[in-house]
Amino acid sequence: MSHIPYESLSEKLIGQRIMLIGGAGFIGHNLSLELARLGATVMIVDNLMVNSLIENAFTQDQDPVQRTAYRNFLHDRFSLLRAARVELRNADARILTDLGRCFEEFEPTKVVHLSAIASAVDAKQEPGLCFDLQLITLRNTLELVRATGQKINQVMFMSSSTVYGDFEGDSVDERTFPRPEGIYANAKFMGERLVRTYRTQYGLGTTVIRPSALYGERCISRRVSQMFIENALTGKPLLLEGGGDGRLDFTYIRDLVQGQVRALALHSGPVDSNTFNITFGNARTIADLAAVVKEIVPEAVLEDRPRAADKPVRGTLSIERARDVLGFEPEYTLEDGYKQYCQWYVDAWRRAQRETNFA
Ligand SMILES: NC(=O)c1ccc[n+]([C@@H]2O[C@H](COP(=O)([O-])OP(=O)(O)OC[C@H]3O[C@@H](n4cnc5c(N)ncnc54)[C@H](O)[C@@H]3O)[C@@H](O)[C@H]2O)c1
Repeated sequence: MSHIPYESLSEKLIGQRIMLIGGAGFIGHNLSLELARLGATVMIVDNLMVNSLIENAFTQDQDPVQRTAYRNFLHDRFSLLRAARVELRNADARILTDLGRCFEEFEPTKVVHLSAIASAVDAKQEPGLCFDLQLITLRNTLELVRATGQKINQVMFMSSSTVYGDFEGDSVDERTFPRPEGIYANAKFMGERLVRTYRTQYGLGTTVIRPSALYGERCISRRVSQMFIENALTGKPLLLEGGGDGRLDFTYIRDLVQGQVRALALHSGPVDSNTFNITFGNARTIADLAAVVKEIVPEAVLEDRPRAADKPVRGTLSIERARDVLGFEPEYTLEDGYKQYCQWYVDAWRRAQRETNFA
């Protein structure tokens, strides 16, 4: 495919009504804002149970500055969404009738499924809930889409790079056979299988997206990319297991959103079905991540730790298919994107410190 200029995708999105299930989260609110900017009509359906304001307000042992910072991130999400005229319905997608009411009201033409416990570590603590938030919500989504006949032209399922399991070589592509391990990755793989089954048996247009190691503004999922900059700001050490030689395909949220927008705008309807790795496409070490933090916060303390025996072995996700089919081209290296994010985090933290001291 020729490289379609990104802004021209707006023509294809105007008139589309896009529902994001689990869309108030980190990925969903960033995607919603961009889709709305490009002219789509957007509705978020979210029960606000993960990263919630209530959880943030009532966690007992939370540092006051951290509490203020996270509350600001969540408030900012809602303010930005409101300003962008994105609709938000507080509904639980595990409950078919509640989700069904949202479908009836909004009449979507495309649906993006994002709800989950979005962390493999947290999902391991609550396997039943992990199953329900990923798979019961997906079952309801697919059933409601099926019931509309062909009125909904695309279901996008947010899967994960964890479906690949431990990498055997440096890189994987979409033809690499998945070998998921643990409840989170297996539920993602089951989700992919379910989506493909609805495509083959009921003719749904489907897109599976496999992202990896995201970072970006207003994320409060406390992954390594967030914890490193936050630890640096609070005088805690940045722990480097095995000297920080573990590799991940770190991806800035703006690059993921670009890929998702392309996959939504360029989808050609019910016969169209594909799976895409959407990442930066070049794995970097945890030590590289720490080096960027050290540049922004020179007093950051780096501490070596022994490598955990069950540490997953990861690497690069090839993005050649997304390049060929969608014209996807990531823009943010770790040195650009992560640096930009860290600078944003420093400002957000300083703001929270000022607000906490005045409170
Ligand atoms: N962030 C990453 O690095 C990453 C990487 C790979 C895949 N993913 C996947 O992308 C998706 C979104 O991730 P995220 O980082 O935005 O996560 P997030 O936790 O920020 O957002 C998930 C949202 O789903 C909502 N939700 C959960 N259960 C729900 C239910 N029953 N009904 C309605 N809403 C519900 C939550 O309230 C939350 O707002 C997830 O499926 C995740 O597994 C994320």
